[in-house]
Amino acid sequence: MSLAIQAEGLVKRYGDTVALNGVDLAVPAGKVVGVLGPNGAGKTTTVRILATLLRPDAGHATVAGYDVVAEPVRVRGLIGLTGQYASVDEDLSGTENLVLIGKLLGHSGKAAKTRAIALLDRFGLAEAAGRAAKTYSGGMRRRLDLAASLVGRPQVLYLDEPTTGLDPHARREVWSVVRGLVADGTTVLLTTQYLDEADQLADSVTVIDHGRVVAEGRTDELKRRVGGQTLQVRTASLEDFASVSRILATLTGVEPIADPEIGLLTVPAPDPAVLSALVRKLDEHGITADELALRLPSLDEVFLALTGKPSEEVPA
Ligand SMILES: Nc1ncnc2c1ncn2[C@@H]1O[C@H](COP(=O)(O)OP(=O)(O)OP(=O)(O)O)[C@@H](O)[C@H]1O
Ligand SMILES: [Mg+2]
Repeated sequence: MSLAIQAEGLVKRYGDTVALNGVDLAVPAGKVVGVLGPNGAGKTTTVRILATLLRPDAGHATVAGYDVVAEPVRVRGLIGLTGQYASVDEDLSGTENLVLIGKLLGHSGKAAKTRAIALLDRFGLAEAAGRAAKTYSGGMRRRLDLAASLVGRPQVLYLDEPTTGLDPHARREVWSVVRGLVADGTTVLLTTQYLDEADQLADSVTVIDHGRVVAEGRTDELKRRVGGQTLQVRTASLEDFASVSRILATLTGVEPIADPEIGLLTVPAPDPAVLSALVRKLDEHGITADELALRLPSLDEVFLALTGKPSEEVPA
């Protein structure tokens, strides 16, 4: 299996801040890999290094076999980037934006125009093509951004939080565009704070936190491995809280997530037998629980288990 992107031991420091602390990444050609992580995890830094916009302090990375530091021009010829923040010129129309990029890439005026029209049409922006981008909705702007990154027909596309801030309808529009690109053979590296987005689009995910890879694999594998079922216990009295927490830790081998204010303890419980074991232990200790439940994790809990932080709220 050939790798479109391969990174090993990427390190990046900003003064005292260690943005990346040895990130490894492998993206097979033609696949979608999601890079997940909370704010400040190092997602954008990773993408900027892979896009030749930033030099790593240590480690190395290749795109289609070309080194991002030694052969940046080669790499730039292969990639497209849709940054976290909109990059289109607000005062130019959709067409003008795309034609400008085509010309910057060295296309003739005619070729640039033809490509612009085709892309705008493909992204459902034909009707708005002549309007200034500042009149576009957030979803339209994001699609124009995507179109802009595709003018050069990239083999490898980086999407940095492509749907952050979009409503559910606009998110689905972007997802469908990405699926279309992948169907055409484009390799996609996508960063996101939304696990459901990775679920929808990515063949596998790499979760980073504090500049380190904390987990990687297919999303279903991760859910099973990280999430599985969770056991929730609400103690009747606060005095029992610490004892129950210790019992849970012993039974599952994992420190429970504690919310003392509401007396709630949550712990991953891959083996359902843990529930009956807990009931026996509580009985032995004469502890009464107000609530005892075994349930499947939400996506947020998987993310929380991996990073210790809640994921962003998904727009309702
Ligand atoms: N130019 C910079 N100067 C100083 N520190 C920076 C710079 N760029 C990033 N950092 C720091 O590096 C760390 C990683 O930042 P990065 O932008 O890669 O995170 P991210 O995962 O993209 O976060 P977000 O989800 O908020 O976009 C953060 O602590 C950030 O404050
Ligand atoms: Mg970012």
